[in-house]
Amino acid sequence: MAEELKVLGVCGSLRKGSLNMAALRACKDLMPAGMSLNITHIDDLPMFNQDVFDAGIPEAPKRFRAEVLAADGVLIASPEYNFSLTAALKNAIDWASRPPNQSWQDKPVAIFSCSQGPLGGARVQYDLRRILGQLWAHVLPRPEVFIGAAPGKFADGKLSDEATRKFLTDLLAGFKPWIERMRLKK
Ligand SMILES: Cc1cc2nc3c(=O)[nH]c(=O)nc-3n(C[C@H](O)[C@H](O)[C@H](O)COP(=O)(O)O)c2cc1C
Repeated sequence: MAEELKVLGVCGSLRKGSLNMAALRACKDLMPAGMSLNITHIDDLPMFNQDVFDAGIPEAPKRFRAEVLAADGVLIASPEYNFSLTAALKNAIDWASRPPNQSWQDKPVAIFSCSQGPLGGARVQYDLRRILGQLWAHVLPRPEVFIGAAPGKFADGKLSDEATRKFLTDLLAGFKPWIERMRLKK
């Protein structure tokens, strides 16, 4: 039997009631067969400081770096803050980006965004692609999933919009062969 692909979920919002986190949780039930999702947290990462890194990586970033390194793929869900990444997400990416063991190297990544605005966070996705690309991560090109006007698509903290559920299902279905393809190239 083929080995199960382990995907790490990362949410760019630290908010308890985060809609991105709610959508990420919904993805657990939408995973294709043979792929599982484990959602991590980034709220305990200190602000990146090279001096701290050099003195010895603290436990939380050490954990996050190891999680990214061990994952077969990373699924990032994030809102757009002021047309770009949230500080929390950029900080997490930075912690995992420093050698040795640059954790994003050759890592298959899928992204989606959930934002209040009508574009659904399109701009954060293109900034993310630019940042992760130069770290040699392989970001799934399509399908793109932008969950716009997001507050109306959730009820009681859960994703309630069927069309959005379908978009996410298609994204995850596309992510599996992307991970397999990237593994073959190694
Ligand atoms: C600092 C800040 C900046 C924001 N900038 C944008 C933005 O540029 N575009 C947008 O669509 N929504 C923006 N929003 C609204 C977020 O999309 C909205 O709060 C969203 O629900 C946050 O995601 P979350 O529910 O996962 O926390 C911003 C919110 C904050 C707090």
